[in-house]
Amino acid sequence: MTAIDPETLILCPYEKTCSGCQLLDIPYGKQAESKVSELRALLGNHGIQTPKHIDFLSAGAAYLRDRLDFSLQDGRLGLYGKNSREIVDIEVCAQLSPELQKWYTEFRKIKWPFTKGSIRLRVGPRGERGVWLDFANIDIKSLLDEQNILRELQEKTFVEIGQRRKIPVWNGSEFKLKDPELNKWFTTWMNKVPVDLFCHVASFTQPSLKANTFIADKISAWVGQHPEARIIEFGSGIGNLTLPALATAKSVLACEIDALSLEGLEKTVLMLPSELQKHADKLTIYRGDFQKKILQDFSQFDGVLANPPRSGLMGFLNPLESLKAEQRPPFFIYMSCFPESMAIDMQRLQSFGYELTELAILDQFPQTHHYEVLGLLQRK
Ligand SMILES: C[S@@+](CC[C@H](N)C(=O)[O-])C[C@H]1O[C@@H](n2cnc3c(N)ncnc32)[C@H](O)[C@@H]1O
Repeated sequence: MTAIDPETLILCPYEKTCSGCQLLDIPYGKQAESKVSELRALLGNHGIQTPKHIDFLSAGAAYLRDRLDFSLQDGRLGLYGKNSREIVDIEVCAQLSPELQKWYTEFRKIKWPFTKGSIRLRVGPRGERGVWLDFANIDIKSLLDEQNILRELQEKTFVEIGQRRKIPVWNGSEFKLKDPELNKWFTTWMNKVPVDLFCHVASFTQPSLKANTFIADKISAWVGQHPEARIIEFGSGIGNLTLPALATAKSVLACEIDALSLEGLEKTVLMLPSELQKHADKLTIYRGDFQKKILQDFSQFDGVLANPPRSGLMGFLNPLESLKAEQRPPFFIYMSCFPESMAIDMQRLQSFGYELTELAILDQFPQTHHYEVLGLLQRK
């Protein structure tokens, strides 16, 4: 287990009312122990042989998140109350990184002319501020017409609006919405060199820049055990795991459903720092719904890298079934924030002859029941 202060208790004035954190009354050491034993029990219940040691990686007991989604309700801005559909008005939040807390405090000064909506705030690697306003169309129109809120926001931050992530642009007499813009909102690592990832404020990224260094380290270490591997990846998104893998792999086939994330990945690869450009040609992007179907011949790969959504890998594992044991890729790296579906997939992988040899929890959601799991499986 990574050194943590086991007695740490995080103080929060909303402990009794806000649903965001569930474990604030439990010292951090106990949280760590129970996450480890919960994961062991879950995998055990699925008949999965777990390694003796489960690593617990912690980037801190709180204050990690560089992006968070809040709701606006009748003038209150915050998260849902415990067992309630009412929003608790939150001034400070134990989940937020210090930079994001500063941004949130400033953002709260805005008086909104309508009653409800969803808001994401984000800070980038150099403290850049972003906001995604996901409001009903009628409210977006009144925001564009009102003008002052948008003008004030755009002086200090990058604004995205609605599901289509449009950018409000002032044309001299009114605000118009233009197409989304890719910016560097997140960072991953290739062989210890930081690489900024192009995406939108609204894009999926891991929650914390600080915790993400642990992810990149683990992926680099595990992929690095198989130099020159040909890798197939499920759920590359904007390339957060793709790039650490690409640094030592022979090739990566990044399979992903989301076109906007892939636009970000393509731009990132195009703009790689000069010393890393030699890796660009090793990446192939493949877009589709790969939970439904994947036509690739998995015997052509040395490793699989998977970071699926909560629903797990589903049909992506089907091609492995029809291969002989020795034709299956020798290693399989699985990362998940939803251990329940991961356990189902790992049960299947075990039946295909894979053995879970290394397992780690990355506690990137401290004070909550959630955690990230990283597992290395090797073909027996
Ligand atoms: C947990 S995210 C991981 C993204 C990335 N690895 C990262 O660390 O930022 C899961 C990814 O799987 C993608 N995804 C979801 N369903 C998919 C499907 N049916 N086929 C392919 N990719 C899918 C999502 O768009 C998302 O990018």
